[in-house]
Amino acid sequence: MPIFYQHQINDNTRLGVWKIEETEEFFKGNVPHHRDVTHPHKRLQHLAGRFLLQYLFPYFPYELIEIADTRKPFIPDERFHFSISHCGDYAAAIVSKTSRVGVDIEIPSEKVLKIQDKYLSKEEREIFNNQLPAAANTDSRLLTSGYSLPTLLWSAKEAVFKWYGAGEVDFRKHTQLKQIHTGEEMIDCLFTKTQSELQINYRLFDKLVLAWVAS
Ligand SMILES: CC(C)(COP(=O)(O)OP(=O)(O)OC[C@H]1O[C@@H](n2cnc3c(N)ncnc32)[C@H](O)[C@@H]1OP(=O)(O)O)[C@@H](O)C(=O)NCCC(=O)NCCS
Repeated sequence: MPIFYQHQINDNTRLGVWKIEETEEFFKGNVPHHRDVTHPHKRLQHLAGRFLLQYLFPYFPYELIEIADTRKPFIPDERFHFSISHCGDYAAAIVSKTSRVGVDIEIPSEKVLKIQDKYLSKEEREIFNNQLPAAANTDSRLLTSGYSLPTLLWSAKEAVFKWYGAGEVDFRKHTQLKQIHTGEEMIDCLFTKTQSELQINYRLFDKLVLAWVAS
């Protein structure tokens, strides 16, 4: 039962990260309704993500999940909001009875560092280059590899994208990251499509970054 990280955010909202060590049969035995996925490892990731939904809320109604045109899975009557992410051998899910949610996990990689200009505005690159020395003073993990911070900022924006759920988000224009608070493990964000001031929460694990929004 390798739950890797679990967080009861409040009475109505729970988050979990699962380290996948089980076989497909284990998950299939626990997840009655799921999408057919051709690639075996992606299928395992998909099943683990779905498995987490009922792990977090035992009465989560798998049979009511629908897939929007944007490919976002959802429950039509909104009795639960949820979001799923998978990467490597990890799956993450956040489920809430009351708030819209978005979650993302990423394994830090140089690829994200190389495409920074595509998802970070000039202002954001300046802000975070300036904040990095101070942030690294309080959390040296942000410096342990050159690409932890870019991966975190990418993951933060992916979590906002999933929280919004309606697609067509320009990461540089619509998802404006303002400040990182290393003590609270939080990033301030202005999402200009809905003029929402969001707090993106994050955790840094060894070789895994987690970001989520519940608002
Ligand atoms: C949809 C997207 C967020 C998935 O992210 P990913 O890193 O490839 O994969 P993840 O494992 O983190 O997430 C996959 C899960 O997200 C969920 N998902 C898929 N589309 C979604 C959407 N439009 N909104 C919310 N959630 C979505 C699904 O639950 C999916 O898992 P499942 O099919 O097993 O249920 C991503 O492919 C994407 O489109 N990002 C936006 C990219 C972009 O617009 N960039 C522009 C600036 S560079």
